[in-house]
Amino acid sequence: MEEEDGCSGDRVSAIVIKDAYRQAPDSTPTMSRLSLLVDLASLLAREVDFDALLATACDRLAQAIHADRASIWLVDAERGDLFTRVAVLPELPSLRMPSGRGIVGFAAEQGVTVRIDDVRNDPRFDSSVDKVTGYTTRSTLVCPIREDEQSPVRGVIQVLNKQEGAFDDEDERYLHALAAQLARALRMTTLRGGFGPGVILRGPFNKIVGRSPALSRVYERITLAAQTDATVLLTGETGTGKSLFARAIHVNSARQNRPFITVDCTTLPAQLVESELFGHERGAFTGADRRVPGKVELADGGTLFLDELGELPLDAQAKLLRFLQERTFERVGGRTTLRADLRIVCATNKNLEQEVARGAFRADLYYRVRVVEIRTPRLADRGSDEVLGLARHFAEQYASRYRRPEPTFTSDALAQLRAHDWPGNVRELEHWIESAVALAPDGVIRGELFPQTEVSTNASTSKRSANPNQSAVELPLGLSLEEASRRYVEATVQACDGNKTEAAKRLEVGRNSIGRWLKDQ
Ligand SMILES: Nc1ncnc2c1ncn2[C@@H]1O[C@H](COP(=O)(O)OP(=O)(O)OP(=O)(O)O)[C@@H](O)[C@H]1O
Ligand SMILES: [Mg+2]
Repeated sequence: MEEEDGCSGDRVSAIVIKDAYRQAPDSTPTMSRLSLLVDLASLLAREVDFDALLATACDRLAQAIHADRASIWLVDAERGDLFTRVAVLPELPSLRMPSGRGIVGFAAEQGVTVRIDDVRNDPRFDSSVDKVTGYTTRSTLVCPIREDEQSPVRGVIQVLNKQEGAFDDEDERYLHALAAQLARALRMTTLRGGFGPGVILRGPFNKIVGRSPALSRVYERITLAAQTDATVLLTGETGTGKSLFARAIHVNSARQNRPFITVDCTTLPAQLVESELFGHERGAFTGADRRVPGKVELADGGTLFLDELGELPLDAQAKLLRFLQERTFERVGGRTTLRADLRIVCATNKNLEQEVARGAFRADLYYRVRVVEIRTPRLADRGSDEVLGLARHFAEQYASRYRRPEPTFTSDALAQLRAHDWPGNVRELEHWIESAVALAPDGVIRGELFPQTEVSTNASTSKRSANPNQSAVELPLGLSLEEASRRYVEATVQACDGNKTEAAKRLEVGRNSIGRWLKDQ
């Protein structure tokens, strides 16, 4: 058994949900047992932090079954061993155990339920976990996580030390039902298994795939921002996951059980913005035959997501600014001043600094919204491992949706995925894979099923190299992405005769980012 250091993407861990979610024990055991199943299913459909989610499940399970503690061990499909990330000790967030070791390993390997009243009398008991945690296991009940007897084992659920007496048949039946439910729920997540046994750790957030260093920095900032009420501005190219991360902030925050309301600023006609945001009273204008609450009112207590903020018309920006400053508003046609308690998350693929410079975006609003700025990296900057990881994830997802066999990629398809420049980022990749899966009834994803890449790759390359002033910079292979980026930024600044504003324009980043790159690295 070893303590896992994990990759940095796996380190991120928010406990917010755990605390916000912990409720008083239900008066009837049946109710709390049922509600645990329902809670799990609804949580697994969101972009929550896995550690927090599994911790919640364990807390509630231990309560429901009157056990001292519960843990969920998952089989790591890539390494073949078992790992647990919760219910051990706060200072030991993750433990690993070789497959087959101990009662947990036995249950996972054999696919059987094990119930032991006194572990000291059982030769399968391995005391090494107790030694690490300082806990003394007396009785235990362990059940494999799998959809049915024929399905692969994804892991095991273990409960320890029944508070009074011993675990009984009813506990065993309940744990069995819960394990099957959990296995089915895992299918909807990014932790779900492939077609073989175990699960694949694709990232720390449910529904979000990626473990590259570039994305790990985003996870860290998302987790930190989620713990506060700070306004967040998500920037980044189209299709890089801004909408996904906006929801992740909400579902990992203390506001998670309150509404998440999206306002799409592209579809807001200027004359309707005010009523859309703040609602209107009956008779406020022709056709207003009843009072209608605005999005701000609907989001009270929760999160208001202003998507494509860069598209908001100028006069609407003034109204939004007032709300952001005072947190009060009036419905159109109303006189009462109302107050809303909500967190604002904004997203845009525009360079707002440039928009401010050309007078299309208010500078005061820009400063108000970029309290915490999080930039989602281009897919091409996350490395080809990430591209292939996402490709496999989408392939499995669409194969199961379209009832196709287990998908495999030909080497030609993999080479194309590695070589493409991804101007449309993750969204483009998802479309490639979805159409290839649909067009491959045998499950074999071949290069020729992808769109004609020459056109898109050349187009994007020529767009980038169109600038005649741009001189080449030689980057030896083997540099870290950070170092390569730093050298590239440095070379661009040099090519602009040291003019950082000009370099920022060429690189499509803020001027401050240039400073940070040159200073921090
Ligand atoms: N890391 C990821 N893991 C899994 N799916 C992802 C990831 N990033 C993006 N996606 C998927 O890619 C698609 C595009 O993501 P999203 O809509 O969040 O992008 P966006 O940055 O908001 O784009 P736009 O600026 O065009 O609105 C969605 O279907 C989303 O679920
Ligand atoms: Mg979006």
